[in-house]
Amino acid sequence: MLTIRNALITDLRCVLSIDPTTRQGAAFVQAAVEKGECLLATENDTFVGYGVMDYGFFGRAFVHTIHVDIAHRRLGVAGRLFREFEKRCTSSRIFTSTNLSNLPMQAFLNSRGYVLSGMVQHLDEGDPEIFYSKGLR
Ligand SMILES: CC(C)(COP(=O)(O)OP(=O)(O)OC[C@H]1O[C@@H](n2cnc3c(N)ncnc32)[C@H](O)[C@@H]1OP(=O)(O)O)[C@@H](O)C(=O)NCCC(=O)NCCS
Repeated sequence: MLTIRNALITDLRCVLSIDPTTRQGAAFVQAAVEKGECLLATENDTFVGYGVMDYGFFGRAFVHTIHVDIAHRRLGVAGRLFREFEKRCTSSRIFTSTNLSNLPMQAFLNSRGYVLSGMVQHLDEGDPEIFYSKGLR
């Protein structure tokens, strides 16, 4: 059974093992866990995915990271994590971003009704960052 819950500091090593080359860095994930901003997806006690949402983006909810273990993709794990983020979101619009080259994430966001909000160049050279958002209320 798939369960979504807050990651605890005792989960940190397992969270990082899902995504060893985390783009934001281990210190960012640790701080998110400590602040209660990191959600963990487990399938029968196996860690299968995690995500981080905070309000550091113009005071709006922003999903910084979402990562599903490769063996557990296309099973609705990211969908369940985003559903929980959207439920917890206290701003009227939720934002996230991904690289232009990341077609799976773009397909995922389209499937959840996210729309294009803009693009920022020069974060990853040659691979612009695409911002998406969804109005929640
Ligand atoms: C993108 C990612 C988070 C999707 O996670 P997931 O758990 O596999 O997604 P879901 O199973 O919830 O997908 C829901 C829907 O999104 C779409 N989708 C997801 N992955 C897709 C892919 N690779 N190709 C096409 N559509 C895709 C589909 O419509 C899917 O529904 P379906 O399986 O019934 O067709 C996952 O591939 C991942 O962790 N990638 C590496 C990390 C990453 O790129 N993170 C985003 C940038 S921070």
